[in-house]
Amino acid sequence: MGKIIKIAGPVITAEGMRGTRMFDVVKVAKEELIGEIIQLKGDTATIQVYEDTTGLCPGEEVVSTGMPLSIELGPGLLRSIYDGIARPLPVLQEKSGDFITRGLVAPSLSREIDYDFKPKVKVGDLVQAGDVLGTVKETQVIEHKILVPPGISGKITKVEKGKYNIEKVIIEIQTDDKKKEKLKMYHRWPVREPRPIKEKLDPTIPLLTGQRVFDTLFPLAKGGAAAIPGPFGAGKTVSQQQLAKWCDASVIVYIGCGERGNEMTEVLDEFPELTDPKTGKPLMERTTLIANTSNMPVAAREASVYTGITIAEYYRDQGYDVALMADSTSRWAEAMREISARLEEMPGEEGYPAYLATRLAQFYERAGRVTNLNGTNGSVTAIGAVSPPGGDFSEPVTQNTLRITKVFWALDASLAYKRHFPSIHWLTSYSLYADKVKGFFDEVEKDFSSHRQRIMNMLQKESELNEIVQLVGPDALPEEDKLILDTTKSIREDFLQQNAFHEVDTYCDTEKQFLMMDCILAFHDSAHKRLESGKKVAKMVTVPVKERIARMKYAEDYKKEAEQIKKDIESQLKKV
Ligand SMILES: Nc1ncnc2c1ncn2[C@@H]1O[C@H](COP(=O)(O)OP(=O)(O)O)[C@@H](O)[C@H]1O
Ligand SMILES: [Mg+2]
Repeated sequence: MGKIIKIAGPVITAEGMRGTRMFDVVKVAKEELIGEIIQLKGDTATIQVYEDTTGLCPGEEVVSTGMPLSIELGPGLLRSIYDGIARPLPVLQEKSGDFITRGLVAPSLSREIDYDFKPKVKVGDLVQAGDVLGTVKETQVIEHKILVPPGISGKITKVEKGKYNIEKVIIEIQTDDKKKEKLKMYHRWPVREPRPIKEKLDPTIPLLTGQRVFDTLFPLAKGGAAAIPGPFGAGKTVSQQQLAKWCDASVIVYIGCGERGNEMTEVLDEFPELTDPKTGKPLMERTTLIANTSNMPVAAREASVYTGITIAEYYRDQGYDVALMADSTSRWAEAMREISARLEEMPGEEGYPAYLATRLAQFYERAGRVTNLNGTNGSVTAIGAVSPPGGDFSEPVTQNTLRITKVFWALDASLAYKRHFPSIHWLTSYSLYADKVKGFFDEVEKDFSSHRQRIMNMLQKESELNEIVQLVGPDALPEEDKLILDTTKSIREDFLQQNAFHEVDTYCDTEKQFLMMDCILAFHDSAHKRLESGKKVAKMVTVPVKERIARMKYAEDYKKEAEQIKKDIESQLKKV
């Protein structure tokens, strides 16, 4: 037991802390505020406190729990809404009203729910870490697999089948060193430590998002890492939410990290109402939300990212594809900066701590498609929004993120200003997974990649032509180039622009994406053929089918629509 000698915002110093270790969780003062030791010098410990430290005084007690910051992993994580250290917000609210009082403790997982445990093992079986002991139906869409926790192996001596809450001992194991392990449906795991895996796999399967600019132009692989940098108002949050709603991961972890409270309120209000297009069930059935808004304690924000990725890894261990969104990692980095400043550490670039790059890398490194300890495959895909001040991508958080993530979805203020949404710029964004996932898309539609390549080339060409147009005006261009400019306009407006708030357009499956490209390119090719016979681009682009191509994104029966469009292209261009 130690005593507080100094308080500086979320960071306090306590003496008399001999025997404690780095990253041990402590309880501070009589309110028992939760904190974590982040520096030790002799018997003096520096502690970051996850709650508001207003009113604390020197001399108050600090008690170590002897455990690192860890969370409960078991059924009940899905559908939950947590703060940065995995306390369930609805429960805290019930206990304290709208303003959460300090020092409240509430377990992450409810003890009031009984889950029907269906064992997959029997007495006498030999099991090791990661093996599936049994299953419970956690939600309507997710079967939760109860695993042997890391570090345990041995022979099963007892199995309890039936409906229990998570505190019931359901399995007993005689470990190899003759100890008895009593396993429940949950176990604890330190959030700063990656959960063990067997091996990392090559990310060759795309994470389908139903967003055209992502899937077609800059695809992300399951197990990959992506960054969405952009200035204020460019569409980071809407993009993250679109991914959370529509991507084809089985489990979603959404971390609202340091952004404004009302944005998170939107998520909290909207998510429970949404249904999954694939299962028809509420999306919350596969989602965990972690809310740590700008008005909540800064140290808990630092922790929220680790809490989130630990939950993601836990479902990956069960063989699921998990996608994690963090909005925004810049606010997370700012939390690190604030705490580092309180520690009077030597500041690095722009005041961020020297370990900023390492921390970012450690976080994104926990993403990956892997073979689990039990031999199944699973993945964690990490998508971090980055909000550089003034939209300046040369600042340290954006630059260090760029070095690690293989997908860069660069949001552009001028596109957002023109209301081109999603405002992902096609010339500054990139995906290093494009070649790896090519095979998958070509399996769906054999010309997918070649269409994609043509579109990319034309957009590139457009930027060159635009420079010429600025010098000599559009009329001086040869007809062929005029046609390219018309086609790229169509690519931008009819294909890349996608309205997140339109009932149909909000989600576009892979086949529809292909057919939309196919129609745009069919028009291009058909018009191109007619240039030889002297037909003019200005005339050809006035045919009514152009309007139909533009509206194809809103079509529900898109296959029929695509067929009709292609017929109309031929017949209408013939008559021009
Ligand atoms: N895909 C989209 N479709 C339609 N509108 C969008 C889209 N993306 C962004 N917007 C518009 O831009 C606004 C700001 O987006 P937001 O995601 O909140 O920005 P940021 O998080 O980057 O500050 C949204 O409220 C919305 O009106
Ligand atoms: Mg935002």
